[in-house]
Amino acid sequence: MIHSQHDALVDLEAGDEPLSNPSANPFFTDIAAQRMSRRGWMAGGMAAFMTGFLPAGSAKASVTGPQPAIGFQPVPVAAQDRVTLPPGYSAQVLIPQGTMLDGSAGRPLVEMSGEEQGRAIGAHHDGMHFFPIEGQSPDQGSSTEGLLVLNHEYVEPRFMHARAAGLSLGAGRMPLEDGARNPDEALKEINAHGVSVVRIARGTDGAWNVVADPRNRRITAATPMEIAGPARGHALLRTTYSPDGTRTRGTLNNCAHGVTPWNTYLTCEENWAGYFVNRTQPEQRPREQARYGVPVQQSRYNWDQARGGADEFARFDATTRGADATADYRNEPNGFGWVVEINPFDPASTPVKRTALGRFAHEGVVFGPVAEGRPVVAYSGDDSTFEYIYKFVSRAPYQAASASGALLDEGTLYVAKFNADGTGEWLPLAHGVGPLTAANGFADQGEVLVNTRLAADTVGATKMDRPEWGAVDPVDGRVYFTLTNNSRRTEAQVDAANPRPRNAFGQIVRWREEGDDHAATRFAWDLFVIAGPEDNSRVAGDAALTADNSFACPDGLWFDADRRLWIQTDIGENEQLRGALAPFGNNAMLCANPVTGEIRRFLTGPVGQEITGVVTTPDRRTMFVNVQHPGATTPAADFAAGRVNSTWPDGEGRLPRSATIVITKNDGGVIGT
Ligand code: FEO
Ligand code: CA
Ligand code: CA
Repeated sequence: MIHSQHDALVDLEAGDEPLSNPSANPFFTDIAAQRMSRRGWMAGGMAAFMTGFLPAGSAKASVTGPQPAIGFQPVPVAAQDRVTLPPGYSAQVLIPQGTMLDGSAGRPLVEMSGEEQGRAIGAHHDGMHFFPIEGQSPDQGSSTEGLLVLNHEYVEPRFMHARAAGLSLGAGRMPLEDGARNPDEALKEINAHGVSVVRIARGTDGAWNVVADPRNRRITAATPMEIAGPARGHALLRTTYSPDGTRTRGTLNNCAHGVTPWNTYLTCEENWAGYFVNRTQPEQRPREQARYGVPVQQSRYNWDQARGGADEFARFDATTRGADATADYRNEPNGFGWVVEINPFDPASTPVKRTALGRFAHEGVVFGPVAEGRPVVAYSGDDSTFEYIYKFVSRAPYQAASASGALLDEGTLYVAKFNADGTGEWLPLAHGVGPLTAANGFADQGEVLVNTRLAADTVGATKMDRPEWGAVDPVDGRVYFTLTNNSRRTEAQVDAANPRPRNAFGQIVRWREEGDDHAATRFAWDLFVIAGPEDNSRVAGDAALTADNSFACPDGLWFDADRRLWIQTDIGENEQLRGALAPFGNNAMLCANPVTGEIRRFLTGPVGQEITGVVTTPDRRTMFVNVQHPGATTPAADFAAGRVNSTWPDGEGRLPRSATIVITKNDGGVIGT
């Protein structure tokens, strides 16, 4: 998450969208007050909550099965500008921003043109998967060679452009030059967004390197994309570029990701709204922009103000100017907020926006286990304050021999309601069902999906503390979701799943679908961990967190095949090493046993960054982790004076860059053991 961009009208941390959920959905205040006062769970009421309130066979009950081996010595909280791992582990830096995809040396990042950035690894590495090079399965095959596919969430312009040196700049936008953006700077930022597909291999010396390959590819914020599913061709998708509403250009703010059972990559559009501006009178701003927080004065990086007004830049201005939607870009923001499917093994393939999965600030997407003849189920969180958790259930059954992205084009999108008694319900967002009718402003399923948040408001979903990544336990099928924090929740707004007001530290919720059927419409839930310091935290084993595992602001979440649950933190730039968050140090990664609740701190990162993105090779002996936005906490005045608080990974005198780290155990063992 980034922070710093302060629009005149909205005071928010720059990676966050403005609070835009005005719905009157209940916070379950009255029930929560009866069930669990804040003091109640702090005094041990959490244990009662986690056991006493749940029906038999509930979320807390785990199917017996193998427990993961977790054998490393925990690392302490750290504030140094380096990556720290347990004794016996080593890390290599791979593909920092600006690494050329053709294996050539390339120019230093600040000297690169916009076009060159479009052939190099982008910025702000985030969600990521290692596809074994055979291309047959997302999890089986080579552990020494594969296509690494990773998201590039956003950019920090001051670390990308030579012109920034000496300017008083925070982590946000560049200043205008003579009233306009330099178009090559804007192109460079556009090309630093999106996704990288890069072949990597382990050499005989154990080091990993980029391998030139025809499949190496950049997908950027300008790459042509198809729109599929119920919103394809909808009037709300029509633009000058696509008068029939079937195509758009680019993907934005790609946070976490997903991996389909048919071996493709899903990239998720999170805080996309701020990239646009709509200077139409605020009261005339359409609901599909207002509910998502499209700015009314200035876009996030001012790409719409690039000198020359070329269409590729002007499209970020959604102001109504023409006679109808095909004469301007009033609908351009409606092409964003989706899950995008990419086939990394076919470099000629066009990415596809799968609209049936809904339109919101998609953090990531995670699949339930597939079974022949059963629907495909995918879970996704909307990472914004007081937003919701969703799941998609395909209409057609999964058949391994023929499965494809078409499965994601027809089905039912549900939104979660967490009841105070530990049960939950999946509420369908289907046109014609319940209140989602033309009379209530939803003419068809395309309109429901473009306005997913409004539809979810309408059916009464539970407002959560910023849903981030999800993960599914490979043994018992329970679904885990991080809820990173919510400083805006008041005492009157606490509920059972979001039990703390002014929630600075976050929690991890988990649930078990009724009958262990991921397509079920009811579930039982509990809180796996309430993050925070020793005196304000609780894990599933009913203990508090300790010096070895205290953490705050969980974000990234991933189960390895041995059932280790990896938890990554994203304490925002405005909070890192400050106030109540100071004791947690730099952002970190932890490893948990989902059965016992044991958690150990595995990794701490350099200054100013967040740890995000984690995957191993199929043998689990090589792990890839992303370090995003080192140095982002550098104050503008320090930057102007040439002082940057991180020089990771290149060292003294160099500007920081996001990069992947490759983690191995010195004895060649499985990571985490
Ligand atoms: Fe991009 Fe929700 O973190
Ligand atoms: Ca985050
Ligand atoms: Ca994230």
